[in-house]
Order: sequence, then C-alpha cells, then structure tokens
Amino acid sequence: MAFKILSVVGARPNFMKIAAICEAIKGVNSVGAPEQIDHVLVHTGQHYDINMSDSFFNDLELPKPDLCLGVGSASHSVQTARIMERFESVVLNEQPHLVLVVGDVNSTAACALVTKKTWCRGDESATDFIPKLAHVEAGLRSFDRTMPEEINRIVTDSISDYLFTTEESANQNLLREGIPENRIFFVGNVMIDTLLRHRSKAQESTILQDLQLADGREIKPYAILTLHRPSNVDDKQVFAKMLDAFLDISERMPVIFPAHPRTLKRIQDDDLGDYFVDHFVQGPEPWDSRVRIRLVPPLGYLDFLRLMSEARVVLTDSGGIQEEATIFGVPCITLRDSTERPVTIEYGTNVLVGSDPEKIIREFDRFSLSGQKSSRSPRYWDGNAAKRIIKVLIDDFFPERLLVTSR
Ligand code: UD1
Repeated sequence: MAFKILSVVGARPNFMKIAAICEAIKGVNSVGAPEQIDHVLVHTGQHYDINMSDSFFNDLELPKPDLCLGVGSASHSVQTARIMERFESVVLNEQPHLVLVVGDVNSTAACALVTKKTWCRGDESATDFIPKLAHVEAGLRSFDRTMPEEINRIVTDSISDYLFTTEESANQNLLREGIPENRIFFVGNVMIDTLLRHRSKAQESTILQDLQLADGREIKPYAILTLHRPSNVDDKQVFAKMLDAFLDISERMPVIFPAHPRTLKRIQDDDLGDYFVDHFVQGPEPWDSRVRIRLVPPLGYLDFLRLMSEARVVLTDSGGIQEEATIFGVPCITLRDSTERPVTIEYGTNVLVGSDPEKIIREFDRFSLSGQKSSRSPRYWDGNAAKRIIKVLIDDFFPERLLVTSR
C-alpha cells in the first residue's frame, strides 16, 4: 500500500519549503523502493498573483498543484474559514494517511484544524481514521501574540502528531508547552535545503544588470528592503518615520525595495509615493543623486536570491529572510522587536531594531563601516532537512522497514 501524503501550500513563503519536501519524495519514489509515496499537492490560493505565486512554481520547478482551492484575499477570519470549508472536502475525497503543513500562514493553521477534525473512511478491512498531521517548522515562538503568525504556530503545534523543528529554541518551546518529546524531531531547515539547491542556478539571474547594480564584473554597494507586516505598514505615522530612515540610507547607497502588494496598497492609500522612484517605470535615479527608495515589483525566487547574496545589508520584517541572510552571511537588520528565530542572532548576522528610525540608521552605519559578513550555519541547515523528515515519516508508516534494516 502506498503512503498517501497530502501537502499544503498557500502563501509565498510556503513554496520554497514544500519544494524541498517534493524533492525528497521524488528521491524516495525514484529509487523504486517498495515504500512508495502517493503525494498530493494542494494550493489554497491565499496568494494568487503571478509574482506572489506562479513565478515560484517555475523557478522552483514545483509540480503543478493537484488541487487549487482559489480562496484569495479576505479578512483573517473569512480567509481561514474559506480555506477550512474547501479543504474539508479535499481531505474527505483524498483520504490521506498524513497531511503535511509548513510555516505559520493562515493556510497552515486552517488546514491543520480541518485535518484533525475529519474522520476518513477506512477501506473494508480498516476502521475509520483521522489523518496524522505533520508540521514542518514547528516550535518557533516570537512570544508576541499580536502577530497572526504566532497564533497560527501555537494552534498548529498544539494538534500536530509530528513536529519537525529547525532550531534548538523550538525544541525547548515545544517541551515547555507540554508537547511529548517523542513527537518532536529536530531535522533542520527545509527552506535552506531549497536555497542551497538553487544557489548556483541563481548566479545566472540578470537582476543585478537589470537594476544597474553591476557594471561589468564590478558590483556596486546596495541595500535591500522588504516590508509587509501590518505593525509596520498599516499605521501611516510609523511607516512614514521608517521611510525617513530608509531615505537617509538611500543617500549613501541605493535601497532596492521589492514591494509586497499589501505594502504597495498602503503607499498608494497613504499618499507616500514621493519617497520612491519606480525603477522600471521611471528609470533609475542618476548614480550621484540616489535620493529615493527604488521600488520594484515582488521578485522571483532566483532573482531575489541573487540580489540578497551580493547585498551590503538587508533590511526586513520577514521571518524567512532572516534565515536566508544567515546562510549568505549578509548583515540583516530586522525591522521588528522580536524574532521567533533566535538562532539567526546567535549564529547569524541578524539584529533587531523594531521600527525606530534612529536604531535603523545606527545599525546600518555600524554594518556598513565594519563590513561585517561573517556567520556560522546553524545545526542541520545543511540541505538534508527534507530527507530527514521523509525518513521519519516512512519509518513510522512502514515499521516493517525498520525490522529489515536493523536485521
Ligand atoms: C502572508 C502571511 C505572512 C507572510 C506573507 C508573505 C498570514 C497570516 N500571513 O501575509 O506570514 O509573511 O504572507 O507574503 O498568513 N495580495 C495580493 N496578491 C496576492 C496576495 C495578497 O494582492 O497574491 C494582497 C491582498 O490585498 C491581500 C494582502 O495582499 O489582502 C495581504 O495578503 P494575505 O495573504 O492576507 O497576507 P500577507 O500580508 O501576504
């Protein structure tokens, strides 16, 4: 009997994580092992733009989703409810042995809840069953319950059967919350599996030339900015103060800003367009008058990897970028007061500055003066996390395999 795994993607940061899982499953199935995996990929449609979704399927060579739920944008509750409603019939029709969710977005929590509330009909010899639930990137905690992602993490972890963690702090958080130790598996980071796999391909990207940051072999110094958290962009005053700091930085080196759709909307609604020059519409600012932030559309995966790998500094409020910057050894100034990924501070180049303009500029100056670019890879961030995950699941699903290998 094949082991049926149903994986869920919904929003941009999910795609690079599932790509590693798909690769690991492909690896198992391609060697013709008796333990075959029947893999079903479901896209909830939380993100749906070409730039936020489709381009990632191309760059990451992800298989086309088997099912698309097309939920689109809505308030958190409505979006979560829509996903739940549509995902329930998927679980009932597909009857997977296991549902695998990644990360901390609304699609993660919604599909986790549905999984553990759905009885599937066993075949004639079997009894009805509730599918097992695996959470990849479990245990991360910012301890800030005003973040929607923190609620999604807590809800998902509390009902998961397999909790796959990326760093030691996550193991400790889960144990403190009373999760039995035998459900926690410290496997490493699937997002880094994907980064390491695509790193050399990303070298072929022409993004540095497209943005006029490379002149022949010489690469000019530049900073990258990403910003989309409601706490940073939804309050006009907070947002404008941060933009003043980025403008200050842009006088010293170009600040490239691939803007998330929700941030673009805030810029338009709050009339903040004067801070920016739209690189591809208005053309770049002349080199000697870098006085505005360079707005570009959300970038594809390979272009963004290339841009990040050569940046002097990354300014961000994203979770995943803190981890990717750690691997590249690029200084990362995190525009938040907390991080659920403390290993990026301990091992990486990450510093937390919140939304305070003075702190942003101070850290920028410190990094650009010292040119600091050193970091260590956290444990198990070695390209093999997804393989470890699939091994745990197969060993559990096909216990006779353990007997064979231990004989
Ligand atoms: C979501 C995740 C966040 C993650 C981010 C990465 C949750 C709670 N948040 O936030 O953790 O860091 O994705 O991008 O799940 N929009 C579009 N096109 C799209 C998608 C969204 O225009 O393809 C716009 C819509 O106006 C939408 C808004 O962006 O209302 C916000 O999208 P949503 O998925 O609700 O949350 P994100 O802010 O993207």
